[in-house]
Amino acid sequence: MLAAMPAARFRIAPSILSADFARLGEEAGAVEAAGADLLHFDVMDNHYVPNLSIGPLVCASLRPRTRLAIDVHLMVKPVDRIVPEFAKAGANIISFHPEASEHVDRTIALIKECGCKAGLALNPATPLSHLDHTLAKLDLVLLMSVNPGFAGQQFIASVLPKIAEVRRRIAAASQTTGREVWLEVDGGVKADNIAEIARAGADTFVAGSAIFGSRDYANTIRDMRDRLAVV
Ligand code: DX5
Ligand code: ZN
Repeated sequence: MLAAMPAARFRIAPSILSADFARLGEEAGAVEAAGADLLHFDVMDNHYVPNLSIGPLVCASLRPRTRLAIDVHLMVKPVDRIVPEFAKAGANIISFHPEASEHVDRTIALIKECGCKAGLALNPATPLSHLDHTLAKLDLVLLMSVNPGFAGQQFIASVLPKIAEVRRRIAAASQTTGREVWLEVDGGVKADNIAEIARAGADTFVAGSAIFGSRDYANTIRDMRDRLAVV
């Protein structure tokens, strides 16, 4: 099944890290039916981050269960060996952290050679200088608004000006390249702060506990969209 890349102004990406792992297929189908745009897939290795989650086998099992694009967020070190595995498993977007790759430009090229969109993920304290020689090649910048490793943490407000600065850099770069680069924010995103994050410049919103921890996924996603509609 070929997942379409959504072209909306804002995209909502539920993180299945907060789903019921005993019913992942159903959960993926449920957020798709509830109006999600992407399925965010958090990969943790108990080495780059202090937690262990899911890998390419789970991605391959979920692939036929949803038409959503699968947005893989690699929190693993090293990165390169696992990239082709995720591409084979049906990932559409693969993001990684620059601290986890010895050769960032090579990893970006590898992701693209594998037929996926490439994203660079920056932790709250990771400087934007990592975008200096990479932005022209990226499809997505993933700004972490919590320290990676766990769902359900509180949004770090000092990331808001960083989002605005990345938005400026993306706008400046697209003047010359004409390329679209998504700005995804990940961690502590909820209905009550999503508009503020969008006003700072984000266009793609990862939400784990806010969606999967709610009783009615469709209501929660609708609430988020209503708040984005007035931005
Ligand atoms: C954290 C992950 C996030 C996390 C988001 O390392 O990258 O995607 O699941 O969860 P919430 O939305 O609950 O902060
Ligand atoms: Zn994530």
